[in-house]
Amino acid sequence: MSYIVFSETSALMPLNYKEAALNCKIARGSYGDYAGDAIIAFMFKGENNIKGPLGKTINNAVKAGHFNGDSQDLFQIYPCADIRCQRVILVGLGKKDKSTSENIRKAAGAAIRKLQSLKKAAVLPPGNSGETIPWIIEGAVLGNYRFDTLKNDPKNINLKELLFYSNDAGLSQNILDHARIPAEGNLVARELTNLPGNLLTPAILSRKAADLGKKYKIPVKILNEPELKKLKMGALLGVGQGSVNRPKMVVWEYKGSKAKDAPIVFVGKGVTFDSGGISIKAAAGMEAMKGDMGGAAAVISLITVLGQLKPKINVIGITPLVENLPSGTAYRPGDVLTASNGKTIEVISTDAEGRLILADALAYAGKYNPKYLIDIATLTGACMVALGVHICAGIMGTDQKLIDSLIKAGENSGERLWQLPLWDDYNSLLDSPSADMKNSGGRWGGAITAGAFLSNFTEDLDWAHIDIAGMDNEEGSHPYRSKGGTGWGVRLLTRFVLSQAPPKSP
Ligand code: BES
Ligand code: MN
Ligand code: ZN
Repeated sequence: MSYIVFSETSALMPLNYKEAALNCKIARGSYGDYAGDAIIAFMFKGENNIKGPLGKTINNAVKAGHFNGDSQDLFQIYPCADIRCQRVILVGLGKKDKSTSENIRKAAGAAIRKLQSLKKAAVLPPGNSGETIPWIIEGAVLGNYRFDTLKNDPKNINLKELLFYSNDAGLSQNILDHARIPAEGNLVARELTNLPGNLLTPAILSRKAADLGKKYKIPVKILNEPELKKLKMGALLGVGQGSVNRPKMVVWEYKGSKAKDAPIVFVGKGVTFDSGGISIKAAAGMEAMKGDMGGAAAVISLITVLGQLKPKINVIGITPLVENLPSGTAYRPGDVLTASNGKTIEVISTDAEGRLILADALAYAGKYNPKYLIDIATLTGACMVALGVHICAGIMGTDQKLIDSLIKAGENSGERLWQLPLWDDYNSLLDSPSADMKNSGGRWGGAITAGAFLSNFTEDLDWAHIDIAGMDNEEGSHPYRSKGGTGWGVRLLTRFVLSQAPPKSP
């Protein structure tokens, strides 16, 4: 898929990005005849499970002490006899009883990066291949991406095809697709998150959502300012009033089941750039706030996943989109905004804008009578203080069954969640002298008071809030996360949806 950026003020601007699609298929025959560029052989420490012509060569490498299967250990060998493919890369996974799905994703990501100049590779999976192949696919697809859309000289050297040799008779193309498609959806979210504020305004992001909807046959509605006014979304409009890039709301509706079946509704925070507004942020590192739409990116990217996997369940995505800038028309501290459910909010900090736009979006979600309502947002620095960065996201909400299902989905996808409490007591921190509530509860328990604020807009629905502030942006180096947007949440939300949908009829 080639991406096109639409700008309201300039002509169409074509960009170089090509989805790092990786064709994943089951191999036939024996790997000795494989004629691609490389074979990737995974091995637990102390367990050479590779049968056939490579078995002895690997044993020799182990005996000579060149490779012992330690986690993240990569070793290349060039066998010549009895095997057609001349480049083999051994990938260590550490001890089998300590190895996790995440460990295997990372190893696969590292291996794929080593091979990116090649086009085709085969995989010899470790352990029970029906179980490990999906993790390898996830790590490989994710590791195969880098953001070079805006470079004139993109390296464009991504691996194109992976063939899997498996002795598991139960392995099917369907199992492979269920790993690849959400991982590719994850990359769509990364790409959206990586595009900067000038190239991804609310208008442009809404157009991209519409394009994806068209491609995957999922209806996408764009609510523009007049409609937002008619709906009395004073909180969203308030945040957006400082920027010439006017606010929007994108709503997509995936119908996989009967019209009367209550849907799952996802709401994603879409601040295309968060300067803090009048309560402006410090300059250092502010550029990272181009990624303050990571929640919206995850929800919009789900279009690509549901459109392909087609689960039998109804799902709605709602993303309020806005740019938070200071200007002569910007909203100010002390302003009182009225949200669409009639509640009034005193603005203490214009930098606590995420909860304001989510307020109107969550209230809007109520009209769908959702079975479950889930929001995902880069909401608070306080959540990063509480839980760290790239360890887990925070989750809180009103329904323990829902929260437990999401936590479980996250354990499966490698996107962990940790629950924070949401006792009533936190609400009193939001008491305002002039309005129903204020938009900041101060420093202590900042992730939770943000959640408490949101609970004023979710009626008595079964609702969960996921704070991904520490998860959306990778600054260091990681085996399958490239620098920049991580696309965190797409695979988690997919797993959750699939866990709620009835299994496919035979
Ligand atoms: N977008 C930020 C939160 C954030 C911080 C995300 C760092 C990713 C990395 C959010 O809009 C924000 O500014 N929150 C304030 C809230 C405060 C003013 C109550 C914060 O966390 O400081
Ligand atoms: Mn902010
Ligand atoms: Zn923000």
